[in-house]
Formats: sequence, C-alpha cells, structure tokens
Amino acid sequence: MTRQLNLSFHVLIFLGLIHVTTFIVSGAPQVPCYFIFGDSLVDSGNNNGLTGEAKANYPPYGIDFPQGVTGRFTNGRTSADIIGQLLGFSKFIPSYATATDQEIETGVNYASGYAGIREETGSHQGDRISMDRQLLNHQATISRVMALQRNKTYTDEYLKKCIYLSNIGSNDYINNYLLPMFYSTSKTFTVEQYASVLIQQYSQQLKTLYNIGARKIVVYGLAKIGCTPIEIRRFDTNGKPCVEWINDAVKLFNDRLKSLVDELNSSYIDAKFTIMNLTSIASPILGAVPVLPNVTCCQVREQDGQCIPNSIPCLVRAVTIFYDALHPSESSNTLIATRSYKEVSPTDTYPYDISHLARL
Ligand SMILES: *[C@@H]1O[C@H](CO)[C@@H](O)[C@H](O)[C@H]1NC(C)=O
Ligand SMILES: *[C@@H]1O[C@H](CO)[C@@H](O)[C@H](O)[C@H]1NC(C)=O
Ligand SMILES: *[C@@H]1O[C@H](CO)[C@@H](O)[C@H](O)[C@H]1NC(C)=O
Ligand SMILES: *[C@@H]1O[C@H](CO)[C@@H](O)[C@H](O)[C@H]1NC(C)=O
Repeated sequence: MTRQLNLSFHVLIFLGLIHVTTFIVSGAPQVPCYFIFGDSLVDSGNNNGLTGEAKANYPPYGIDFPQGVTGRFTNGRTSADIIGQLLGFSKFIPSYATATDQEIETGVNYASGYAGIREETGSHQGDRISMDRQLLNHQATISRVMALQRNKTYTDEYLKKCIYLSNIGSNDYINNYLLPMFYSTSKTFTVEQYASVLIQQYSQQLKTLYNIGARKIVVYGLAKIGCTPIEIRRFDTNGKPCVEWINDAVKLFNDRLKSLVDELNSSYIDAKFTIMNLTSIASPILGAVPVLPNVTCCQVREQDGQCIPNSIPCLVRAVTIFYDALHPSESSNTLIATRSYKEVSPTDTYPYDISHLARL
C-alpha cells in the first residue's frame, strides 16, 4: 500500500516537473511583477543576517538548489519559486535583504522563517520579520520603485498588474499557540477565539496590502498542521496518523479565511483575492492514511525540528514528503505549486487558480 502511494506520488511529481519545464521556455512573464509575503514555506533568505536561530542557511538545506545554501528551508525550490517559474519569470524573485534597484521592479520576496500574522510569533527562536514588518518593507520598496520610475500614475498602474502571494499563519500555531511554554495565547484564547483574532489581524494586513496598491492577491490557507512530523512528535495522536484536534483548530482558521476572502471581494470590487486550499492541494501527501508523515529526510534537532547542521540527508529526495520535521521537500513544493497554478480538483483554489488570476 505504501509502495503504491509512493508510486502515485512519483507520477504526480513527474507530471508536475513536466509542467514546470513546459512553462519555463515560454518567453515573457504573464504578469510584470510578483511579490511574496510569508514564512519559512516561501522564505528565500531574508533571515540570514538576523540574530538568533530562525535560519536555514546551512547544509543540508539547499542540497538540490542550483545555488546551494541560500536560507531556503528545504532541499530545493520553495513553492513560491516554482510558481514564479510557472508564471514565466526567468529568475527567482530576490529576497528583500539582497534585492538591488535593478531587481525590485520585477518583485521582491519579504518572507521570513518563524514569522507570523502576530508580532510575537516565533520570538523564542530569535529575530524574524513579522507580517506587519513585511508590509512596511513593501512600502519601502514602493518608494524605491517610484523613485526609479519617476511617475506616480505609471507606478500605481504598474503595481496593480503584479501578483502578490501571501503564505503565512502556520507559525501562529506551530510557533505560538502550540508552544504553551513560550506563549500564553492558548491560555488566553479558545481555538475558536484564536482563529477569529488571527483572521481579524490578517484582514487588516490584507487591506493594507490593497491600500498600498495590490489588486491580484493569492492567499494560502493552512495545511493540516496536525500531520506534520513536529506536531506528531510533540502531541499524542491517540492512535491516529495525525493530531486531529490541531487539524480541527486549523480548519476553523481556514473556514474563516474563506469568509474573509468573500468579504474582501465584495468590498474591494477592483481587486481579486483568491485562496489556495492546502487541505485539498496537499491531500495526496498530507493525511493520506498509510503514509507515515513522521519520517523526515534529514536528521532533525529535537528543539525545533530543523535539520541538524551538516548532517547527511536521505538519498531519494524525490519521494520524501517532508525535508525536516516542518518543511515540505522540493517534490511536495512542486505538487503545491503546480496545483496552485493550475487546479486539479475544483476545491484546490477558491475562486480561481493563479493561471486564471494572472489573466484577469
Ligand atoms: C506618467 O504615466 C502615465 C501612465 O502611463 C502617462 O500617461 C503619462 O504621460 C506619464 N507622465 C509623464 C510626465 O511622463
Ligand atoms: C465578487 O464580488 C462581486 C461583487 O459583490 C460579485 O459580483 C462577484 O460574483 C464576486 N466574485 C467572486 C468570484 O466571488
Ligand atoms: C478545501 O478543501 C477541502 C477538502 O478538499 C474542502 O472540504 C474545503 O471545503 C475546501 N475549502 C475551501 C475554502 O474551498
Ligand atoms: C513513525 O510512526 C510509526 C507509527 O506510529 C512508528 O511505528 C515509527 O516508529 C515512527 N517512526 C519514527 C521515525 O518516529
């Protein structure tokens, strides 16, 4: 059974890779620019210069990435990298930490490992760039773009054509609510209240993004966090493959996110918001019963589930779901990116996938 699943997973990845190569060769990008907000799922190196432990700028991270170690929290490309390729960008979008004036007009990646919707999220691990600070950084980028283009009308019109991707919220659970020794949120809020306060704050942040010029906005829902190796190690699964109460808590967030996107769509009629539904997109790999999600590719540290520096990872990385105890492998990222770009099931995206959003 496990072999069969591995096999079908292999086929999916194979198809995914074919898609990627098909789109890479297709000339000019479908949108002029692409900005990325989020956490370690899409971080491309923004934490490298920060103080603390919230980093992945050491081997065996990056073992399958063309430039090797970059600060990406996986073996190869992130889902945001692959989506950029599918959109026709010939280079990876640079991190905010390193982006030059020549580069910023095609987009910037602000994402930061351990960051959350909430300011304090991930603080036990050291410095990271919260969603509010990522938005301030974007404001600074806009000022730079305006100074370069020297025509506010032109810049405003230009920024409306870009795709803005936001993949954040996992750490508000993994590195906040689910770590009661460091954070008090689980004592302050029930899971229902917590989902509501997160969505309220995220709503403000997405409105800010709109107010500073974004009109095509991709919002990721949360994956089944109760099926990640780190949570399976930290909590009792009661004989099930995953920690089901965590998946239920995350579902409350996802359900409210759907209502939020409906609300934003009707209040901002000149904007397009769309949700990437990771419950649906990742269903072949996460929570599919006989897969043992507690098996990671690299050897991981007890305290944070990240790879042990310089450890030797597994050899057949194309069939591993998780690279470390929190982060999907490049194979999983390929599945996530290809189904975000072009949905396979009608529940993958709501109301439309990224290829559709790009054309609007
Ligand atoms: C500024 O950009 C707008 C929109 O592209 C254009 O119509 C206008 O002529 C530009 N203004 C100047 C001074 O170049
Ligand atoms: C978005 O809102 C507008 C205005 O309320 C509505 O006409 C449209 O059907 C909505 N679109 C989606 C995809 O929900
Ligand atoms: C996401 O997908 C799941 C499972 O396929 C489905 O039950 C849920 O309704 C979907 N959510 C949205 C927002 O479409
Ligand atoms: C993974 O989980 C299975 C079933 O719960 C268990 O038998 C196995 O020892 C675990 N493996 C690791 C690496 O923790």
